[in-house]
Amino acid sequence: MLTLPISLNERTYSIHIKRGIMSELGKKIKKVFKAGKVAVITDKNVRALYGKEILGILDLEGFKPHLIAVEPGEKSKSIKTLVRVYRELINCNITRSDIIVTLGGGVVGDLGGFAAATFLRGVPYIQVPTSLIAQIDSSVGGKVAVDMMEGKNLIGSFYQPMAVFIDPNFLDTLEERFFNDDMAAVIKYAFIKDRQMFERLMEYNREELLDDIENIIFTCLNIKKTFVEKDERDFGLRKMLNFGHTLGHAVEKYFNYGKYSHGEAISIGMYCITQKSEQIGMTEVGTGQKLKQLLTKYGLPYEMPENSAEIVKAIFVDKKSRGDKIDIVLLRSIGECFIKKIHREEVPAFFL
Ligand code: GLY
Repeated sequence: MLTLPISLNERTYSIHIKRGIMSELGKKIKKVFKAGKVAVITDKNVRALYGKEILGILDLEGFKPHLIAVEPGEKSKSIKTLVRVYRELINCNITRSDIIVTLGGGVVGDLGGFAAATFLRGVPYIQVPTSLIAQIDSSVGGKVAVDMMEGKNLIGSFYQPMAVFIDPNFLDTLEERFFNDDMAAVIKYAFIKDRQMFERLMEYNREELLDDIENIIFTCLNIKKTFVEKDERDFGLRKMLNFGHTLGHAVEKYFNYGKYSHGEAISIGMYCITQKSEQIGMTEVGTGQKLKQLLTKYGLPYEMPENSAEIVKAIFVDKKSRGDKIDIVLLRSIGECFIKKIHREEVPAFFL
């Protein structure tokens, strides 16, 4: 088992990565919190695959588990679904002596984590992420949220889990296109902080990648850990995790979250900004070409879609970016990044 502590004073917790750890979940929960009941928040796809099994595992340890399953997909990260979740938590009498387990991908983790943060002013919770992106990113660091019609993650909080249990076996039931999509985030970590991981990713075939996935997950989370521990509430260094996201979010939004998945949009964002920063001499020449090679290997796009001027306009309507300046993340070279503050007027020059 690989264990990684996230040191945040009284909010310190550990991430545990091990194939088959789900079968020990009841015992593991007992080690981190003496909970009475367990409410498992999941989605209907995950319920169909693992619902019975998880209830059995928790039952065996004497918890009275209750499963709350929402519809799969981003639409469930809504106030409406959140209210449904609260109601079920009330119906099964969850108190602050109990615990919430989020079992699923990013949507379930963000929604369930926000429910945990706010229900009864905060119920302890544990993240059990089942998708690659949730295992390497969203389950760690305490960002929990729901969306509004006006934008994603507009209502949220920082609420750290009591523990994160990562079982790479979940990835075996993940469709290849979802796995590849989430590889965009692995590639992001390599480019911002780990040249060695970039080299491994370039060399690996699919089998080698899957054989080494526990170490890959650990490496990604170890990078995230350094940013989260230094900047828990995302005022400075943690923004480096947003490499490719300024344009990526605009691409997702412009196409109404329909045409491009998150991973695809971020891939385009990473490549376009790197090409530009290379042209103006801020990034080592050849970095964009290497990024393009790796993205292509995982079937990810890199080229700016048509309507680029309209897409760039969407950067300005990002509800979370206020003020005259925005922070963009640039690469110095593979494995080294920095934040550049640019004036809003400079945005078109940077992205077109
Ligand atoms: N996913 C970026 C962050 O957690 O800050």
